[in-house]
Amino acid sequence: METVVSGIRSTGNLHLGNYFGAIKNFVRMQYENKCYFFIADYHSLTTLPNPDDLHENVKQVVVEYLACGIDPEAATVYLQSDLPETAELYLLLNMNAYVGELERTTTFKEKVRKQPENVNAGLLTYPVLMAADIIIHKATKVPVGKDQEQNLEMSRKFAKRFNRIYNADYFPEPYPYNFGEELIKIPGLDGTGKMGKSEGNGIYLSDTPEIIRKKVMSAVTDSGPVKKNEKMSEPIKNLFSLLLVVSEKNTFDYFLEKYNNCEIRYSDLKNQLAEDIIAFVNPFRERILQLSADDKYLRKVIEMGKEKAHESASKTVREVREIIGFKSF
Ligand code: TRP
Repeated sequence: METVVSGIRSTGNLHLGNYFGAIKNFVRMQYENKCYFFIADYHSLTTLPNPDDLHENVKQVVVEYLACGIDPEAATVYLQSDLPETAELYLLLNMNAYVGELERTTTFKEKVRKQPENVNAGLLTYPVLMAADIIIHKATKVPVGKDQEQNLEMSRKFAKRFNRIYNADYFPEPYPYNFGEELIKIPGLDGTGKMGKSEGNGIYLSDTPEIIRKKVMSAVTDSGPVKKNEKMSEPIKNLFSLLLVVSEKNTFDYFLEKYNNCEIRYSDLKNQLAEDIIAFVNPFRERILQLSADDKYLRKVIEMGKEKAHESASKTVREVREIIGFKSF
């Protein structure tokens, strides 16, 4: 089995875009790979969250991932901050990371633009910590989105550089990985672009039926088709994309035919879409509520993850220390 690592930032609730674009894939890959899924809570310190929020956010992510079907018996689910070995490997890798290459990283430059008042060294060395997360388990497959591909390229660079400097064939190179087919992009409800946390156009797995109805009914539409088989505008295409993932095939076909015949009533389409989203989201929401109230179970999951992750991480750090030349007297 190959080793998969992915880190999840503890910011905000999961929406349908996260589910179809990433988590559904995590769930499918967990039985065919040795998976480590961790909450990147060290990484979240680059934006200085307040201590009370930090814990709540971390808990929310754990709960929502479990609710989505990540199986803590199959995959190793842990908190980054429960693995101090990561911090040690990060320190060691920092010695072989150049300030120039870190300053040129796109995600760093973006952060400098977004938070000019707090350009901390943690932001600069973010890719080094990410490399440590991955190679500490000697992972070869990393499911990440497009925006993280450059950071992953840096992880490969740091792994190769370590091997070269110490003339050791030690770390394997990690590559982006998606299970099976192309990832589905889920559009938002505001007529343009994809569903995103910061765009405020999303449907969350924790949304109640009332909220979902309200969001769907106020989704952007157009004035309707005037000729047969008219090309769809983006907002309408988006509604159909959502229908495609949450509704029955014949429901989708029914509305498509109505559209093509210029007989569609968008309010009917939206009513149906809202009910189908509710039916899809409800089981997730119920599991989220249940899990949130079960601190005993969550503690068990996190303890178990910590132990499993520690086993693999401590071995790596021990070997790395030897390679570097640390010896006991
Ligand atoms: N940088 C990733 C993000 O922002 C999170 C992350 C941290 C990560 N460490 C990782 C992802 C290791 C994959 C592997 O989404």
